[in-house]
Amino acid sequence: MTAVGTTPTTTRDYETFEVSTLTPHLGAEVRGIDLSVPLDEAQVADVRRAFADWGVLVFRDQHLDREAHKAFARHFGHLHVHPMNHARKQDPEILIVKTTAESAYTAGDAWHADVTCDEIPPLGSALYITEVPEGGGGDTLFADMYMAYDELSPTMQSFLEGLTAVHDGAIPYVGSYKSTPPEGGYPRNEHPVITVHPVTGRKVLYVNPGFTSHIKGLKRWESKALLQALYDLVATSPKLHCRVRWEPNTLTLWDNRCVQHHAVWDYYPNSRYGERVSILDDVRPQGVAGR
Ligand code: SIN
Repeated sequence: MTAVGTTPTTTRDYETFEVSTLTPHLGAEVRGIDLSVPLDEAQVADVRRAFADWGVLVFRDQHLDREAHKAFARHFGHLHVHPMNHARKQDPEILIVKTTAESAYTAGDAWHADVTCDEIPPLGSALYITEVPEGGGGDTLFADMYMAYDELSPTMQSFLEGLTAVHDGAIPYVGSYKSTPPEGGYPRNEHPVITVHPVTGRKVLYVNPGFTSHIKGLKRWESKALLQALYDLVATSPKLHCRVRWEPNTLTLWDNRCVQHHAVWDYYPNSRYGERVSILDDVRPQGVAGR
């Protein structure tokens, strides 16, 4: 993603496809690529570059069965198995994202990054929406967490760079979704509050209200107040955001290491359906060197 303060860009040059950006710093629609067939080396290299440049890539009018969806994601790494799939009799690499009038909740209806409770959270997710709500709605908001870091004062940046937070899967999966935990419970892991993106080298604010339970080494009230202030910054700063308006057969790939997202449930009692695969990273989130 482009640094804050650089000249806004409406398109960027890639060898094998064209993009038009959703904002000058986050999100791009990619045209001229068919994800239903295996990508060649040049296409994979371009998708990797565009992914690092824009964080959220939107591919319209794609016609994918499950195997093609998974094959696309596998160009970028092994597939992740969602912890909530432990009790489901279905393809473990597919997360069904389905909301109807009968749903008690819609998945991802709060700011979060995916599965940060894992020791090594996914590097990205590819959500393929095939059914959009009648009458509109059901967009997904994304937030640029590099820019969130850049919004902090140098004093706050430096303070946060020394801290570690606990991310607990029980918060969403038991607390919000009421699912039965697997034996041993849902994952719970610690990550630096400020991480360094392994590809771009940029610093990221890496706490999210979906999974982060507390910051270590602070009093509980201090942790709660500080996390709330950081969450408010993300939720109330529209300039950090881009918004994906789904059409049937849209696939959106996001970089889970530097972007948070929020699925908007504004379409009750209508329905929305999609399937998500997530891509495993091969390294734990890294903190700022020496911290
Ligand atoms: C999610 O992956 O959190 C769901 C996103 C969405 O349904 O838009």
